[in-house]
Amino acid sequence: MIKIRVNDIEIACRDEGAGSALVFLHAFPLDQSIWNEQVAAFTPDYRVITCDWRGFGGTSLGSRPPGMDTFAEDLAGLLDALNVERATLCALSMGGYGTFAFYRRFAERVEALILCDTRATPDTEEGKSNRRQLAARVLEGGPLVVAEAMMTKLLGATTLAERPAVVARVQAIIEATSAEAIAAALHGMAGRADSTDLLGGINIPTLVLVGEEDTLTPPEEAERMAQAIPGVRYEIIPEAGHLPNLERPDEFNRLLAGFLKSR
Ligand code: MLT
Repeated sequence: MIKIRVNDIEIACRDEGAGSALVFLHAFPLDQSIWNEQVAAFTPDYRVITCDWRGFGGTSLGSRPPGMDTFAEDLAGLLDALNVERATLCALSMGGYGTFAFYRRFAERVEALILCDTRATPDTEEGKSNRRQLAARVLEGGPLVVAEAMMTKLLGATTLAERPAVVARVQAIIEATSAEAIAAALHGMAGRADSTDLLGGINIPTLVLVGEEDTLTPPEEAERMAQAIPGVRYEIIPEAGHLPNLERPDEFNRLLAGFLKSR
């Protein structure tokens, strides 16, 4: 793990392997360790970069409001610091929200896209209000509040019933996350822009992946998003929920490797 000064923060990241750059962007309220199985699988063939978003894992929170545009600027600054001109972005959920903001501003820097369990639409008014209430509760009660509120949504029914090690791993990451970062990201996600206007103009190889048991961004929604992207590949991962890279890493890696080789 290295730390790199970008904008007003220090970003914790890994930069391993050699070749074309493959950047993994994590979901809320987690950190880059959710990509450990992908780092191990793809480092032999690619330059693999993972990082913690502002406030998460080992990255400082800084003073800028952590909206998705700030995430995009942080990512651009990180790629500059690592001398990466163009990269393939593999983004999960909130990582996808940040990726859409990045694509809007820096499309020429994106070689290919993997959009996992994410959506291009903004929050509804009710969704925004729920996030703001959850942010207030987390600031009072700490990260366990969000673990309780989200665990059964983050993981699929099969994982909750049969993969206790994955449940424990996700719980431990959330418990180690700062309440301030969680609250700030909740406000950031609530304020994110509608990215559906970008979809029809995406002209690079794109894979949309979703867990069959994802209830946060269900397959029907992922499929609708995929249908708006020209030439997209769309895959469903059986027996996985919102975090298929953790729940079924071998299947996730197989699909990702197949896509990367087919470009
Ligand atoms: C995530 O997994 O990043 C979040 O659950 C996304 C969201 O809450 O919209």
